[in-house]
Amino acid sequence: MSSSNIKIFDTTLRDGEQVPGCKLNTQQKLVIAKQLDLLGVDVIEAGFPVSSPGDFKSVEAISKMVKNATVCGLTRAVKKDIEVAAEALRFAKKPRIHTGIGTSESHIKYKFNSNKEDILYRAYEAVKYAKSFVEDVEFYAEDAGRTDNKFLARVCEQAIKAGATVLNIPDTTGYCLPSEYGAKIKYLKENVKGIEHAILSCHCHNDLGLATANSIEAIINGARQIECTINGIGERAGNTALEEVVMILKQHPYLNLDTNINTQYLYRISQLVSDSMGVYSQPNKAIVGANAFAHSSGIHQDGVIKNRETYEIINPKDVGVTQSAIILTARSGRAALAYKAKNVGYELTKLQLDIVYASFLNFADQKKEVNDEDIHQIIESTAISKQILSA
Ligand code: KIV
Ligand code: ZN
Repeated sequence: MSSSNIKIFDTTLRDGEQVPGCKLNTQQKLVIAKQLDLLGVDVIEAGFPVSSPGDFKSVEAISKMVKNATVCGLTRAVKKDIEVAAEALRFAKKPRIHTGIGTSESHIKYKFNSNKEDILYRAYEAVKYAKSFVEDVEFYAEDAGRTDNKFLARVCEQAIKAGATVLNIPDTTGYCLPSEYGAKIKYLKENVKGIEHAILSCHCHNDLGLATANSIEAIINGARQIECTINGIGERAGNTALEEVVMILKQHPYLNLDTNINTQYLYRISQLVSDSMGVYSQPNKAIVGANAFAHSSGIHQDGVIKNRETYEIINPKDVGVTQSAIILTARSGRAALAYKAKNVGYELTKLQLDIVYASFLNFADQKKEVNDEDIHQIIESTAISKQILSA
């Protein structure tokens, strides 16, 4: 079976950056956009141009600079937004306008004080207007996760009729279960007239910790674009993490779904985004967290020293991490101590190791982690140090 290519739509600079504390200036955005382009993302959502002069300037500057990816600007289903986005994107080699409107009962009633027929009309008009500026128009049905599937299908049909190239089905509130979200995508694939003319895109939020699972379920059911951010940053609990979905597809080749991402750049760009925003991932964050390739229990360390694959499903080099880390703690065994001691210059015999290990455990009980400097100190302070050093 030939594999299907999944488009990666990165929204770090829009959905990610709109979060308090994550604000970037144009120069910082340019640096990140350049790295996203090198990473191989298919689409960079560069901002929401009508929202502020600064955002307009950033989208314009990114449009001028990006060489490979499509550059996208967000709008509401509002003429002025669309005009401003088109203006900001005018230098892009591959411009895309991302326009849309809320479609759930709650959005229609409370946000728009409107009705379904009006939403259908506004969706059509927005896409049509955006098409008068650019060929590539993506439509989003905000809160699609909580939108009745029948009505959602009607909205999608209007967007396709008006010329939408991509249909974004956001689970804006991160509410859906994977089975539910997958079924929604399948329903749209099977029931929207003209769906063969557009790509279905998933855009999942992480309020229940399901964004990655929901995105994977969406592509298994026919979506062909994933919207995501580096480190999963984004509104509230964040968006789908780019590094997670990309590595899931790489590590499960039998799914026959691949991406254009150069995975060796993942760690580097994760660090760049954290440093630029001053927002850091938790140590146990999948793929890019400080502990993602660190082993600290004796049983695991013994396995990894014998063969990395005993406790690692990803080669750290594949995501740009130089090597797995063996962290010495009071839970470490002799194998890990011998390994680390060898790395800093001591080849211990079995007897020597037994003696040093006892001192090591006393030391480790006092300190969370034992570093290379500590190993020297432990070995040199034991009674056998002279014998070890001269051996
Ligand atoms: O979560 C969402 O619905 C969005 C849209 C604006 C695409 O970010
Ligand atoms: Zn979003």
